[in-house]
This record gives sequence, C-alpha cells and structure tokens, in this order.
Amino acid sequence: MDKELIDRLREEMRYEFARTGPPEGFPAFHDIPAERYTSDEFYELEREHLWRRVWVLAGRQEELPNPGDYRTFDDLGIPVLLVRGKDGELRAFYNTCQHRGAPVVRAECGTARTLRCQYHSWTYDITDGELIAVPDERDFVGLDRTQRCLPQLRCEVWDGWVFVNQDPDAPPLLDWLAPIPEQLAELDGPRLRTVARRSEVVPCNWKVTAEAFLEVYHFRHIHQRDGDSHLDNRGATMGLLPNGASRMITPFSRRSWQAAGMSDWDDWRHLVTPGFDDIETVSDIVRCTSSAYSIFPNLITPIAAYGFPFILFWPIDRRTTRIEWIHYAPIEFDPADGLPPHWGRRMEAFDQIMGEDFANMAPMQRSLESPAFRGVPINYQERRIWHFNEQVDRMIGVERVPERLRMAPLMAPYVGD
Ligand code: FES
Ligand SMILES: [Fe+2]
Repeated sequence: MDKELIDRLREEMRYEFARTGPPEGFPAFHDIPAERYTSDEFYELEREHLWRRVWVLAGRQEELPNPGDYRTFDDLGIPVLLVRGKDGELRAFYNTCQHRGAPVVRAECGTARTLRCQYHSWTYDITDGELIAVPDERDFVGLDRTQRCLPQLRCEVWDGWVFVNQDPDAPPLLDWLAPIPEQLAELDGPRLRTVARRSEVVPCNWKVTAEAFLEVYHFRHIHQRDGDSHLDNRGATMGLLPNGASRMITPFSRRSWQAAGMSDWDDWRHLVTPGFDDIETVSDIVRCTSSAYSIFPNLITPIAAYGFPFILFWPIDRRTTRIEWIHYAPIEFDPADGLPPHWGRRMEAFDQIMGEDFANMAPMQRSLESPAFRGVPINYQERRIWHFNEQVDRMIGVERVPERLRMAPLMAPYVGD
C-alpha cells in the first residue's frame, strides 16, 4: 500500500468513528431475498454461469517446480489438471480423456513425460495437450487426432498463486484483480510458502460462508474473549473494489492497541510479532490493524506481516460448502518435521476463531429455509455483502436472474480503489 492510500484509509477510519449514521445520500437497501441462499434455481444459475466465468485459486507455482510436474484440482466440481510444460509454463487442462472419458491422471500429483490415460493409453503431450499416441489407431475409422487434444482452461499466476478460469474470453487475471496485485505487492507473494492447510465442510450455502468474512459487525458478539474482541468495528473502513472485490481495514480495540504498545488506534509504528520471520515489506498499517481483502467470488484473506491465510469457499451443493484455509508465510521448512511450534500455536488460535464462525453458520441454512424468514436486511457496515451479491448477479447475467431474486444495482457510485 502506498502512502497516499494509507493516508486516505486513516481519514476514512476517522470519518467512520465520527459519523452518527450512514453517509448523506447512502441508499436504503431492500432485503436480500432469502431464496438466493436456498433455491435450487439460483444455485443452478450460479453453477451454469458464475462458476464457469470466474478466476479461482488452484494452487501455488512452487508446487510444480519442474517440467512434467502435475497436480489435480477438483474444487470447481470439474476434474482439472495443472501441468508444467516442457517450455516451463504452467497450464491447466480438463482431466478428462477424449476417448471414453476416464480421468487421464489419477494420482493427486506426480511427474510425467507424457499424460497417458490408464484405460487404453491414449497419450497427450504435457505442453500443449496434443494427442500423440493412440493404440490400435487403425481401428478408429476417420479419427482426427487434432480434434481430440486435451482441452485447456485459462491458467495465470499472480505472485506465485495459480488461478484457473473456464472462460476463454475472461479478462487476464491481473486485470481482473486490479488494484489488488499492486496494493498487495508488499506481501512478497513469490517468496511465500504454504505452511498449513485446513478444511471443514459446513452445511450452508457457499454465500452464507463467504459473507461471514465480509463484515466485522459480528466480531464482538461471537469472537470476544473476556469482553474484548480485539477489534473496534466502529472504525472499520471498507473499500468496494472493481469486479466484486473489496477491502476492509479495522482498527484494534483500545485494549488491543494498548497491549501492542501503540499510543492510539492509528499509531501505526513498525511492529513485529516476536518469534516469527517477517515479510519486511508489509506496511505498518497492516501490522497495526486487521486488514483483509476479498477476491470475488470465493477468496478472502486477512493479511499480516508474519504470514496469513487464504480462506476459500467451495460449493459442494446448494446447502453444503467446503471451507479451506491455507496459511502462507516467508519460511522454508520441511513438512516432514511438522509445523514449527510458534506456527502451531498461531494455527490453534486461528482455528479457534474459525470454529466460532462454523458453530454460528452450521444451523443457519435450516433457519434461512424456514418459512418464517423473509429476507436479509443489510446495514451500511455490511455493504461489502451487497457489493458481492451485485457481482453474483452480473456474473450470472442480470437478465437471467428472476426479477424477485435480483439485487438492485446500488453500489456503483461507491466503487473505487
Ligand atoms: S478412456 Fe482414456 S484411453 Fe480410453
Ligand atoms: Fe467471524
């Protein structure tokens, strides 16, 4: 983050503390229709249109260091294969043999010279997916190999994070993410390594899980310890970014900033977390607040100087979601040795917060499906949820969304960088 952005954020937080209501002219929200979380119709629209058009995280580039390294990726509900080609480039293919549809690769990861399907050994090139060998080819009348290559998806990398997209016409990843790559360049992404990975299946629609991380309104109610939640949501500033993304910077609570040795909530002097290797380039505001970014549709990251998780939301069905959280840090360690103890403690604390969120979400779906629930009234503090849902409609195509389920497009005037 540059100085200009940090100064702007400080001003915005001052404003948030001082205001007595939403800003002049801020629109009144209608209820978000409950059916967006509960109906098969809406879920199918998302499957058919949204998930086929978005960039989603599929891995890290260092997981595939050498030509021929491959790794499967199934979280989109479609078998996908990441492969590093002979030219050193990463590509994504559909892991579906063009003969009789067997998965070409069955192991989760490995290294191969060619991609050879185990069923009848049709063989594809690791670099371009070209069909290079067909046993008993003489028995296929009129087989045109060029029409039977392994189909590709888009695959692009942002600072070490590998994303895939099924839409051949999608904008380039870095354009889609802008201005986030610039603002998060300080995380030194290419140097980070995966420290730990967790996952939990929650009986909720994927948007219920994602939205739980788009506000801090709930924080002092379900995440408090001895009457303090570590954060002061009254000063939280939210940036609505292009393409449904957003940013939220929340000051520490008085007790927390005092414990950290700060003289006020915006005394953002250089703090380091004892015992941890540090990403030195991370700015002081990030060290002295809770700073989080959301990348549409299913990635949220509360960033920190010693390392941080990407939290991901993968729909399994209309009312079931797999939440995954993967921690990255600027450390080299051998996973065989287990987590360093200070990271073990850090994970325990983080997992406890996640557990509080899960306990809260788990009963929500049945409750949302109750005839007693009419719709979701959203407040100004929860406006990232509105912005996110507007983008859901845009990705589906607003005209395809039944009128009773649509979001009024209200946030465009508030989108910036
Ligand atoms: S299904 Fe793959 S070679 Fe037959
Ligand atoms: Fe939470």
